[in-house]
Amino acid sequence: MAELPNSIEARDARAHLHPYTNARTVQEQGPIVMERGKGIHVWDTSGKEYIEAMAGLWSVGVGFSEERLVKAALEQMQKLPYYHTFAMRSHGPAVELAEMLVSIAPVPMSKAFFTNSGSEANDTVVKMVWYRANAMGTPQKKKIISRIKGYHGVTVASASMTGLPYNHMSFDLPIAGILHTGSPHYWREAAEGESEEDFSARRAAELEEMILAEGPDTVAAFIGEPVMGAGGVIVPPKGYWAAIQAVLKKYDILLIADEVICGLGRTGNLWGSQTYDMQPDILTTSKQLSSSYMPISAVLVNEKVFEPLADESNRIGTFGHGFTAGGHPVAAAVAVENLKIIEERDLVGNVRAVGPKFQARLEAFLDHPIVGEKRGVGLIGALELVLDKDAKTAMEKPGQLGGIAAKHMLEEGVISRNMGDAVAFCPPMIINEGQVDDLMDRVERVLDKTAAEAGV
Ligand SMILES: Cc1ncc(COP(=O)(O)O)c(C=O)c1O
Repeated sequence: MAELPNSIEARDARAHLHPYTNARTVQEQGPIVMERGKGIHVWDTSGKEYIEAMAGLWSVGVGFSEERLVKAALEQMQKLPYYHTFAMRSHGPAVELAEMLVSIAPVPMSKAFFTNSGSEANDTVVKMVWYRANAMGTPQKKKIISRIKGYHGVTVASASMTGLPYNHMSFDLPIAGILHTGSPHYWREAAEGESEEDFSARRAAELEEMILAEGPDTVAAFIGEPVMGAGGVIVPPKGYWAAIQAVLKKYDILLIADEVICGLGRTGNLWGSQTYDMQPDILTTSKQLSSSYMPISAVLVNEKVFEPLADESNRIGTFGHGFTAGGHPVAAAVAVENLKIIEERDLVGNVRAVGPKFQARLEAFLDHPIVGEKRGVGLIGALELVLDKDAKTAMEKPGQLGGIAAKHMLEEGVISRNMGDAVAFCPPMIINEGQVDDLMDRVERVLDKTAAEAGV
């Protein structure tokens, strides 16, 4: 922690309770305080430059300080800084964004509903699924199946769908009616000699067993990220989504694609659902939707979901759900401009062009003594750090090796994210090949330093 009692770090530690942080560590050490960003870089208050290799939180797709987004926000702020969309009201940016989302959706979608975060979007989905079940006269068909290691947010229902221990521990979660099936992490969980296809088939069979045990008439939906993000960048093994979808179809279970990270280009297609041939009934998007310049998220629903929901709202008199800032005009205007930038600058094309180099440089680290697995697709990837490659184990304390790497990343001017002993990268989609080399050269030094510190 900086010595001065009035340093920004000390003031932060006194007044600010941080999300996803050890509250005691902040008190002892103070945070890193960021001051500005440009392109793929950010600078902290000491003037140190970093490559933001996580695009913030998997989100700043068009890079930092994009003037067009600033201008879009300012113009909307001046024209109509706030309006809501409750009770038969609307405004231009919400209409334009809804139209755009419906038109670019990976499968035919009927409507967009606006929320402010990924968590709110997924929480909204849970309520929509319940509401629809009641509307259809099948009130018992409400359970939702999620996956171990899946990440869907932190509000009560979305945290329940999240399949990570620290989102449940001491929060008394998950709530009833949310179930978790096995993760698609082939490297970690496949049996000896099991092929990717066989592992996928086994996961699908386990899902079917769970549905049958619960009773198919009680299971309404299955939620999954096309590629798991916060669970450690887990790319589905071959045949995974085809096998899972076949089971869902058999029992008339809705598929919810959580595209909060994968959406809008990250995997080399506009949607992760396209990369993995998923046909969701419901899709949630956020983060790269506005490049996180403004908080906004959306739930897209198909006719199968919209029609009963509309009937039920007609029966009751209203769809009794919505947020004051849902579809906020400034956030929506920024998202519209952001989508235009993604299209005009062909950032999906850039992910396809630069992604192979990004993946190849990560892959090459498999030769490094502390890299056990490389995962990734498009411009998202991770390295799983181990000390024993055969046993797939790291240090005694889970996450300790990842923590050492994280410290060296900062020294080398790289912001990555360590999830346990996996180190994730998800740079802005504007990154070029030279910048990928700069990033990976730094990562190489980090791996060497981490290995040395771990005694390898
Ligand atoms: C796949 C996924 N879904 C949902 C969320 C929750 O989004 P938010 O943090 O905006 O609530 C996240 C956040 O990282 C995410 O990665």
